[in-house]
Amino acid sequence: MINAILCKAPGLPSSLVYQSISAPSPEANEVIIQVKACSICFPDTLMIQGKYQFKPDFPFSPGREISGVIIARGSAVDKWKIGDEVMGFIKYGGLAEQIAVDQEVLFRKSFDMDFATAASIVYAYGTAYHGLKQRANLQPGETLTILGASGGVGLAAVQLGKAMGARVIACASTQGKCDLCKDNGADEVINYTSEDLKVRIKELTNGQGSNVILDPVGGTYTEQAIRATAWEGRYLVIGFAAGEIPAIPLNLPLLKGCTISGVFLSRFITEQRDAYLENVQDIMQFYSQNIINPHIEHTYALVDSPRAIEAMMNRTVKGKIVVVL
Ligand SMILES: NC(=O)c1ccc[n+]([C@@H]2O[C@H](COP(=O)([O-])OP(=O)(O)OC[C@H]3O[C@@H](n4cnc5c(N)ncnc54)[C@H](OP(=O)(O)O)[C@@H]3O)[C@@H](O)[C@H]2O)c1
Repeated sequence: MINAILCKAPGLPSSLVYQSISAPSPEANEVIIQVKACSICFPDTLMIQGKYQFKPDFPFSPGREISGVIIARGSAVDKWKIGDEVMGFIKYGGLAEQIAVDQEVLFRKSFDMDFATAASIVYAYGTAYHGLKQRANLQPGETLTILGASGGVGLAAVQLGKAMGARVIACASTQGKCDLCKDNGADEVINYTSEDLKVRIKELTNGQGSNVILDPVGGTYTEQAIRATAWEGRYLVIGFAAGEIPAIPLNLPLLKGCTISGVFLSRFITEQRDAYLENVQDIMQFYSQNIINPHIEHTYALVDSPRAIEAMMNRTVKGKIVVVL
């Protein structure tokens, strides 16, 4: 038997249950991982409420980004051996002591990386890098503006934007969040609860607007930010953490000659697997060269995972929060 967090019906984090369940056994192509860490990702907050793009059957364990040690292998597994330390972005199930995972989903954890860090790389950096590299084709010297810049994807984008040679304008809702963005390399910050987003982006770009804008927040910020896009700018639609999917007047991209580009990591992984694997290789190299490093604000025990998910829903998290087992 193993311990796990279970979601038995759609609801808030307080309805999650910490329970003993049967240990998993592997299908032919799967390995069993002894989970060492699982970072909380925004989709966890939606999945437990039945509001995410895909809806697992109940009961299920939330948790999308894990690291751990391989303790058993299915009969067809040829990539991994018992004792290997791995990390990966999975559909769900990470908030459990053990999980069965397809061998192809995993990456080797580097030795200089602790397990909490290893559980904070692929989802946040993978999404931000796919957006900046394949979707925006961000160039050195361009201005990159990031909304929700102190969040998981946002802060990864701040670090990656600097690594790619951009001038980074980080936007967030509190002074503490703005300070964290500065500490992580942002050139300029905008507190969009006390400053006018469109006006400030224009001021900081000599009236030209931002070449690339990365938006994991949505809601009312989106239209203001699109109005501050430069000629031939690229606007990256990452997600809607504010809860509202904005409707944009189509005259705006027309007037700016700009592109509004969707960014969807899960589909990129299946549609462009080689490019995804190359991206992860780049990201791991950035890490080993000390160019990126996830900011882990807080760790939680497995039994306290509901509190961690609640913190993300309350907009109080900076960087990543990780459940450590
Ligand atoms: N398209 C993809 O493939 C993909 C992949 C990963 C994530 N996503 C999406 O990207 C978004 C961000 O994910 P994440 O893991 O980076 O989340 P996160 O760490 O919670 O960051 C989200 C940020 O959004 C801002 N925000 C504004 N209103 C909010 C609200 N009502 N509740 C919570 N946060 C709010 C917060 O910054 P301020 O307080 O500074 O505004 C927060 O830092 C989510 O919508 C997620 O589903 C999409």
